[in-house]
Amino acid sequence: MSKIKMIRAREVLDSRGNPTVECDVEIDNGIFRAMVPSGASAGQHEALELRDKDENRFLGKGTLKAVENVNSIIVPRAVGMDCTLQKEIDELMLDLDGTENKDNLGANAILSVSLAICKAGAAAKNLQLYEYIGELFGVSPCKLPVPMCNVINGGKHAGQENSIQEHMLMPTGAKCFKDGIRMISETYHHLAKLLKGTYGAGGTLIGDEGGFAPAQITDVNERLQMMLDAVDNAGYNGMMNIALDPASSEFFYDGIYKIGDKSFSGGEMVDFYVDLCKTYPIASIEDGLAEDDWDSWVEMVKKLGSNLQIVGDDLFVTNTRRIQKGIELKAANSVLIKLNQIGTVTETLNAIKMAHNEKWTAVVSHRSGETEDDFIADLVVGTNSGQIKTGAPARSDRTAKYNQLIRIEEKLSGKAVYPGRNFRNKTTSPLNLA
Ligand code: PGA
Ligand code: ZN
Repeated sequence: MSKIKMIRAREVLDSRGNPTVECDVEIDNGIFRAMVPSGASAGQHEALELRDKDENRFLGKGTLKAVENVNSIIVPRAVGMDCTLQKEIDELMLDLDGTENKDNLGANAILSVSLAICKAGAAAKNLQLYEYIGELFGVSPCKLPVPMCNVINGGKHAGQENSIQEHMLMPTGAKCFKDGIRMISETYHHLAKLLKGTYGAGGTLIGDEGGFAPAQITDVNERLQMMLDAVDNAGYNGMMNIALDPASSEFFYDGIYKIGDKSFSGGEMVDFYVDLCKTYPIASIEDGLAEDDWDSWVEMVKKLGSNLQIVGDDLFVTNTRRIQKGIELKAANSVLIKLNQIGTVTETLNAIKMAHNEKWTAVVSHRSGETEDDFIADLVVGTNSGQIKTGAPARSDRTAKYNQLIRIEEKLSGKAVYPGRNFRNKTTSPLNLA
C-alpha cells in the first residue's frame, strides 16, 4: 500500500505559451508530476478541454476552473487512496464527473491526476514507468517505436488555411531507435539547407511541432519531393518512408475538401491519395478524410488498405465507442492514440487494446501544444505499440520524448526490438487482452 499523501494542481504554460494543467502527486517515495498537452486541430468528438473563457486572462484560455476542480473536487476523494489503484482512481474521477464527455471536471483536470498517479504508481512499485504500464496493460515491454517525425508543418500548425498539416519521415530502414533518430536529425538539417538555398531565411521558419513551415511551398508534391531530396543528400535513399496527416477535417466544408484553390469530393480525395502513393514511398495516411465522412473512409480502406496504414485520429478520438464503429465498418486499420482526447490512462489503454485485438496498429501521439512531460515515450514502449508521432527532431517539447526513448532503449539493452519495416507486424501485441 502506498498512500497518496497530497495532490496539487496548478496552471503552467505549454509549448505555444498557452496555459495548461500541471499536477503533483506526493507519496512516501517523493513527488510525481504530470502536465497535460493541448491540440489545435482538435476533433469535434474529443472529451472536453475545460477553459475559463474569461477574456481578461490568457485570451479566454485560462485553466483555473480545471485546476480548482482537481484541488477541491478530486483531492478530497483521492488523497489517502493507494496510488497503484490506477483503474479505481480513474473510475472514481469518471464518477465524480458523471458525464460522457468529461463536461463537468474537464478532461484536462482528470488527465493531469491520472498521469501523475501513474508515475507515482510506478515509483511505489519500484519499476520504470514503461515497465509499470506494461503491467497495467498486460505485456512484457520490449518494442521501441518507429518514429513519425513531422519535418514540414502546414495547416493550423503553420498559420495556413486549407493545406496538408503534417509531412513526416519514418526511418524504417534503421537498425535501432537511436540510429533512426540520428538519421532523422541529419535529414532534417539537410532539409534546412535545401529550404534555405531555395527560399532564403524565411524557408526555415518553423511551425508548432518543430518542422519547417515554408509558406512558399503549398503543393504537397513539392514538399514531399524536397523531403526525398533531403533524404538522398543525407545518404538514406530507400531507408525512409513517408507518413502524412492531412488533418482533413480542417479543410472540409459542407461535403467538399479544399486544398489550396482545388476542391475535391470524398471519392476524389481517395483518388488523390492513390496517386500520391504511386509516386512517393508513403506508408501511412492519418485523417485523410473528415471526422464524420465514414463512407469515404470505407472507400479508402477498400482502395488502399492492404498496403497502406490508414490511421483515424479525429475520426476515433481515442474513444472505444468510435473505434468499435470503425472496426464494424472497416473504416481504417489503425488508431491514433492521444491521452487528452479521452482523459484517463485506463481509457487510453483500453483504446490501444481494442486496436491490437483487432490486429490494427495503434500510433501513440503528442499534441501540437506540448510540454516537457515525456509520458508518451513510456506509454508507447509499455504497450508494445511500435509507432510514435511526436514532431520534428527539434524543440525540447518534442525531443524530450525522443530522448526518453533513447534512454529506454539503453535500459532494455539486448531485449529491445526495433520493428523498422515491420512496424505493422503485430507479433508483440498484448498477451493478456482480458
Ligand atoms: P493537434 O494536431 O494536436 O493540433 O490536434 C495533431 C494531429 O492532428 O495529429
Ligand atoms: Zn492528426
